[in-house]
Amino acid sequence: MRNITKLFLGGILMLSMSSINAAETAKSIVIYFSRTGENYSVGVIKEGNTAKVAKVVAAMTGSDIFEVKEADKYPVNYNECIARAKKEVQTKARPAFLGTAPDLSKYDTIYLGYPNWWGDVPMVVYTLLEKAKVDGKTILPFCTHEGSGLGATAKKLAKVFPKAKVEQDGLAIYGHVAQKDAAAVKTAVEGWLKKLGKLK
Ligand SMILES: Cc1cc2nc3c(=O)[nH]c(=O)nc-3n(C[C@H](O)[C@H](O)[C@H](O)COP(=O)(O)O)c2cc1C
Repeated sequence: MRNITKLFLGGILMLSMSSINAAETAKSIVIYFSRTGENYSVGVIKEGNTAKVAKVVAAMTGSDIFEVKEADKYPVNYNECIARAKKEVQTKARPAFLGTAPDLSKYDTIYLGYPNWWGDVPMVVYTLLEKAKVDGKTILPFCTHEGSGLGATAKKLAKVFPKAKVEQDGLAIYGHVAQKDAAAVKTAVEGWLKKLGKLK
């Protein structure tokens, strides 16, 4: 009887330790895409608007960070980039990304940052997420834009990745605000993370 009790208690201890370990090791990652070059409203930029937001999200949540870069660089010229991106959206293209997709096995949450491009997520981001495999992950989207907000991007992500849990209450920040107003970005990100229960 004593042995059975010991076994039982030992089992409980192991179970509770493994759940503590799971909580400790559950990590989040910020995956973002952001373009430099000629921008819609802030001239030629060296650091993209979304990049600025992504770094704040990563710092506030203690997340790892991964930048999606396209293999065939988008034109620096704004109108040329607009034209190429339009074609990619229309054809649901999957342009290649540079390097290797991150190993997502150690993450349960992905903060996903992107600029609104033609009312959608830039196609190269889909390429990356399809390769990295996001089934079972929670995706928390944030974007920068110049008037369209998130648009239907969160819905589109949920449609392309039906086995991921895509938060529909994403964060949208104007690109020119992201580029020029660090305090506003901090306030917006903080408010969003608190609403999601990720910050106290
Ligand atoms: C190809 C392309 C398409 C865009 N389409 C939209 C759009 O549909 N709606 C919108 O509000 N802004 C649109 N924009 C503006 C960007 O979303 C905005 O400038 C954003 O902040 C750029 O972020 P980035 O610097 O991180 O790339 C577009 C910009 C580009 C380059």
